[in-house]
Amino acid sequence: MAELVEPLFSFRPLTWSDLPLLHEWLNRPHVAEWWEGTTSLEYVQQTHGKDLESTVIWQFFACLGDVPVGYTQLYRVLGADPDWWQDETDPGARGIDQFLANEAQLGRGLGSAMVRQFLIRTFSEDPTVTKIQTDPAPHNGRAIRAYEKAGFRRVRELITPDGPATLMVVTREDIGRIELDAARR
Ligand SMILES: CC(C)(COP(=O)(O)OP(=O)(O)OC[C@H]1O[C@@H](n2cnc3c(N)ncnc32)[C@H](O)[C@@H]1OP(=O)(O)O)[C@@H](O)C(=O)NCCC(=O)NCCS
Repeated sequence: MAELVEPLFSFRPLTWSDLPLLHEWLNRPHVAEWWEGTTSLEYVQQTHGKDLESTVIWQFFACLGDVPVGYTQLYRVLGADPDWWQDETDPGARGIDQFLANEAQLGRGLGSAMVRQFLIRTFSEDPTVTKIQTDPAPHNGRAIRAYEKAGFRRVRELITPDGPATLMVVTREDIGRIELDAARR
């Protein structure tokens, strides 16, 4: 029997002209519930627009073919924000946050594929990256399960400036296991 082939994502860096679409996505109820709540375009321009100039945060649209279907932000953990991750000392630590734009596409394996491919890409493109973390809300069972499928392991529960979170981590040593998982799908 033929195996199902995982959809192949490309990750395109965001530009200023993408912010109206990002704003529209952030206000979709399935994203707003787990992200920043309802936001104005001005707020998105101030925050995500400012991040476009950052040297510690990088934002991408995850695309299938030419079509953007998801958003991912990658950040350097050390020094990203003075209020966050004050215990981190590893300059190779990175973090990611993400969502799928279309509610109809949730729960079909797309998000875990997107995350897995982004992990592989990040470790491959930057040899200084040692580990990647993500911090879903403890009651976001779908995200936690999707991240485990992508290769993350749960580390502990913690309190962040945004509230309780489940810290999940994948290390460079895990990359072989993740690639093997991807090849099996
Ligand atoms: C998080 C997100 C990217 C995951 O992508 P996805 O395509 O929906 O996830 P997948 O289909 O790959 O995996 C979901 C898994 O969670 C399971 N699941 C669904 N609801 C669940 C719940 N309430 N509790 C536990 N597991 C749940 C699914 O059954 C599936 O696991 P399985 O394949 O073993 O059956 C996507 O759901 C999303 O964008 N959600 C809205 C925004 C969001 O929550 N962003 C994350 C913020 S940290």
